[in-house]
Amino acid sequence: MRVVLGVGGGIAAYKVASLLRLFTEAGHDVTVIPTDAATRFVGTATWEALSGNPVSNSVWDDVDRVNHVRLGHEADLIMVAPATADVLARAAAGLADDLLTGTLLMARGPVFMAPAMHTEMWQHAATRANVETLRSRGVTVMDPASGRLTGADSGPGRLPEPADIFDAALAAVARATHGGDGALRGKRVTISAGGTREPLDPVRFLGNRSSGKQGMALAEAALAEGAEVTLVLAHAEVPAPRGCEVVRVETALELRDAVLEALPGTDVLIMAAAVADFRPAELMDTKIKKTDDGADPVITLVRNPDVLREAVLARQGMVEEGRSEPLVIAGFAAETGDATADPLTHARAKLERKGCDFLVLNVVGTGLVFGQDTNEVLILDPAGGEPVPAGGSKRAVADAVVAHVATLLPA
Ligand code: CTP
Repeated sequence: MRVVLGVGGGIAAYKVASLLRLFTEAGHDVTVIPTDAATRFVGTATWEALSGNPVSNSVWDDVDRVNHVRLGHEADLIMVAPATADVLARAAAGLADDLLTGTLLMARGPVFMAPAMHTEMWQHAATRANVETLRSRGVTVMDPASGRLTGADSGPGRLPEPADIFDAALAAVARATHGGDGALRGKRVTISAGGTREPLDPVRFLGNRSSGKQGMALAEAALAEGAEVTLVLAHAEVPAPRGCEVVRVETALELRDAVLEALPGTDVLIMAAAVADFRPAELMDTKIKKTDDGADPVITLVRNPDVLREAVLARQGMVEEGRSEPLVIAGFAAETGDATADPLTHARAKLERKGCDFLVLNVVGTGLVFGQDTNEVLILDPAGGEPVPAGGSKRAVADAVVAHVATLLPA
């Protein structure tokens, strides 16, 4: 994508060279616009060499190209780092006295700012009001990190780490790209997705047919509603959407650890992963070979933990220890129905067993659901109300699930 990277005049400008690298190494085309003050900290040559693009902050260079209009219109993302108190103020006031502020006024895509300044400046009523104004206009303004500042002082005002800015900026782009009205703004949503693999020996594993598509669609839907998304990702056939924090896992045990670790900082957990219920009792450290006597190998399986159930119990523990913020937990169920009961009856029993806040029921049969692009589900709540149908694309199902989550969170 095309990125405009505005650099404010603060000492943290030197860290933005690493941020620029993250963008270029990920294949993005970056045009850097340093303010005049920024070039006192890091020179134009550095920005030109690292970005591979010409650098200017003047509306009087290349006048025939009308740079502020072209850059503002073409950019998929306009970001400013460090956003100094001065740049925040000029952007909030709508000034257009240099190329950066002019480009900000021409922006068609998402605008993202990573502030850095001394604590007193960040906490000053003028800066607070400017940040508020920018946020109310849809600009994403990160909170600065806390720590050592330029002088002897320390406190909130440090530029966040380049990798954190990079992730948060991509999340802002994802929100802008995937639509949504911000129903989950400020919420952290953890989604498990894909299918776990249970190793048998160094070359074999027990896996399942999950493609990960439904989990990815949920991540997109949550991003679109403004959530910060952590994707606990087992094997999947499709890439994770841009803007998620991705925690890679292989086995059910790894997935359990990643989910439980994320839980305290999470507002919503959606368990969309196909978690293996069993794993080989023993992991051979050498390949299982055919034997001369022709004997069939015997593989003993043991039960894996039920991650969804453990998350519900962990939530109970956190509430007993004083957690007051709500934590919504949702599960998926794939049911076929059998001689004893229909899929809905099985799903209601599962919802009660798991103790989560709602269950998304897939009625499965051969060729249905796994790897397909469409899905038909019923959303079941523990009160036994009428199931809510949702269907169509996996994204449509995801939107319905995310909308249901939003009804369970305080406004
Ligand atoms: N799940 C989990 N841990 C497991 C198995 C499943 O957290 N070891 C989660 C899934 O992510 C899903 C829900 O539990 O959200 C239901 O999964 P499903 O396989 O349908 O249910 P099971 O508990 O395995 O029940 P059964 O196999 O008896 O139908």
